[in-house]
Amino acid sequence: MQDLPSRQEAGQGAGHATSAAPRPMAGRRSGPLRGAARVPGDKSISHRALMFGALAIGTTRIDGLLEGEDVLRTAAAMRAMGAEVVRAGDGSWRISGVGVGGLGEPEDILDMGNAGTGTRLVMGLVASHPMTAIFTGDASLRRRPMERVAAPLRLIGARFQGRSGGRLPMAVTGTAEPVPIAYRLPVPSAQVKSAVLLAGLNAPGRTTVIEAEATRDHTERMLRHFGASVSVSRAADGTTIVLEGQPELRARDVVVPGDPSSAAFPAVAGLIVAGSEVRLKGVGINALRTGLFDTLREMGAAIAHESLREEGGEPVADLAIRAGKLKGITVPASRAPSMIDEYPILAVAAACAEGRTVMHGLAELRVKESDRLSAMATGLAACGAQVVVDGDTLIVEGRGRPPRGGATIATALDHRIAMSFLVLGLVTDAPVTIDDSGPIATSFPDFVPLMRGLGADIGDA
Ligand code: S3P
Repeated sequence: MQDLPSRQEAGQGAGHATSAAPRPMAGRRSGPLRGAARVPGDKSISHRALMFGALAIGTTRIDGLLEGEDVLRTAAAMRAMGAEVVRAGDGSWRISGVGVGGLGEPEDILDMGNAGTGTRLVMGLVASHPMTAIFTGDASLRRRPMERVAAPLRLIGARFQGRSGGRLPMAVTGTAEPVPIAYRLPVPSAQVKSAVLLAGLNAPGRTTVIEAEATRDHTERMLRHFGASVSVSRAADGTTIVLEGQPELRARDVVVPGDPSSAAFPAVAGLIVAGSEVRLKGVGINALRTGLFDTLREMGAAIAHESLREEGGEPVADLAIRAGKLKGITVPASRAPSMIDEYPILAVAAACAEGRTVMHGLAELRVKESDRLSAMATGLAACGAQVVVDGDTLIVEGRGRPPRGGATIATALDHRIAMSFLVLGLVTDAPVTIDDSGPIATSFPDFVPLMRGLGADIGDA
């Protein structure tokens, strides 16, 4: 077993956002996409697997870990806090944990790169340990709001000192005497829910989180998988999650399913490039993540689930995708939590559909890796699509054929904006160029070779 350096330690990649020269890339009109591909491991589950492995007694084995830059930052943070984190092979990692309450103070600043999930969840861990950790990140992460996790974690006893507006760099001082809290989420956010639950692991008694709208439940599932006691009750006014504090977590094996948020890009490409037939293997189909696929089906898409199975406590299937005509629909705000990361690529599908697509309830898109609402509206308009933003609603007028393309898109350190516009370029008359493909490595390092393998014409601009 070899302790390979992460890419950022090797001085490659992860610093791109602040240091490496931007690398423009273009998507060009392509013939039918054909073939099968395996998308990388789920980013949300990969972060959590590393954190639970770091807290469990014994050696946790993770297979299918996403080796994207965000997740490598979390691996480095867990190492800095005392866990032994070893890469044993492609996507195969071993973590020897320290036990609940056993994390140590990192000696240096934790540079979390572009990783919002990594930052907010690790803040939860720090909050209930007597230590100080200082967080920073790239220009995108330093713009993102951290007060949403600081607010509940202060109630537990942690202290926060950051820049104005609750932004990084930020020092978090955890408490030796964490108080178990009951917290109602003011925004639907799995990151905030998870930060509170992770802090609650080292608090005596019961920590409760109430969410009005159900968000992804990977933390709850993984808590149980590692031996914690978690109860979930659903009622008309929301879901209540109760965690019994200070459990003994035991090392477990984790198989990370393919990321539906990454599958979204080749899936939409397969739907809009005429004549395509694409199969995506081993994709997670947790119902709290699959809003995009439900929406695309309502638009008329042919997406079949094949070989349904369960892996590592998560439902998984192969997706069989066939190109065809899409029609515009209205997507209700209630669906946003189950597809929050997928609106950029849905907007691309909508721009190629026949008729109007109305997407409600997108306020959270403004605080992602970039302001995705304005990035999509501006980029699609530059490509010739008719787009309107009305408050937190995005309206795309589809003309039954792709917009003309021919624009250069500012990706603003946002991997999903970058991939969305490369996919759009596969169907436009003129290529669509992105100003920097570097951010794609955040979540989907092999996006370009995978898409090329299916027949997509994506390459240097
Ligand atoms: C994530 C939750 C979502 C999502 C992010 C991953 C998670 O963020 O956008 O990519 O792993 O918990 P919010 O909690 O801010 O909605």
